Amino acid sequence: MADSVKYINNARKPKGMMGKKLLDRMNGGRHAELADFGLDALPEGGVRRMADLGCGGGRNVAALLARYADAYCVGIDYSPLAVRLAAQYNAQQASRCRLMQADVAALPLEAGAYDLITAFETVYFWGDLGVAFANVYAALSEGGTFMIVNETDGMDEEGRRVERLIEGMTVYTADELCAFLRKAGFASVEVRHHHTQPWIAVYARK
Ligand SMILES: C[S@@+](CC[C@H](N)C(=O)[O-])C[C@H]1O[C@@H](n2cnc3c(N)ncnc32)[C@H](O)[C@@H]1O
Repeated sequence: MADSVKYINNARKPKGMMGKKLLDRMNGGRHAELADFGLDALPEGGVRRMADLGCGGGRNVAALLARYADAYCVGIDYSPLAVRLAAQYNAQQASRCRLMQADVAALPLEAGAYDLITAFETVYFWGDLGVAFANVYAALSEGGTFMIVNETDGMDEEGRRVERLIEGMTVYTADELCAFLRKAGFASVEVRHHHTQPWIAVYARK
């Protein structure tokens, strides 16, 4: 396997030197812009407890803590490297967050306790979305929001090219995500498309 392909395959579960390089890159640049596109449309207040699933290098945990100054955030990732780097990234805010190693298939979150749960560039790797979304739904408070942000809407050639390169990756269209979310119980599901990029942000309300 070419080094460039090995490198990009770290997106699924980052490890080692290449995983660290990838996580550092995802903490900035275009990837951060993508995250902000999703964050910008969230309500300004009303969030006390939040969780970022597949938190990677931790930049979005920091962005959530900055946006909701009175809130506490749990960052979850099944990659031990990601958990370690995300904890380092958020060391200054250690009293307001906790980084945990866990799989979304067995989410260790208290039922009904979270006002906001986010998933940036990660649902592609979650396997059975029925199980994962049901777990997210259970952890949300009544009226709580689950936001998914993806850089591909499943219709662009680049997204499909990356899907072919990364083992275990599934790219979803907005309609497919909405169908999974409704099946998990979410009553209201809205999709926001970026005006120039194939980026989508999906907001599902419990
Ligand atoms: C492409 S990275 C995105 C990281 C971060 N959300 C961001 O936008 O910078 C995907 C992350 O999701 C994590 N991940 C994938 N599947 C997961 C699962 N089933 N449970 C927990 N974390 C998962 C990976 O370990 C990786 O850190």
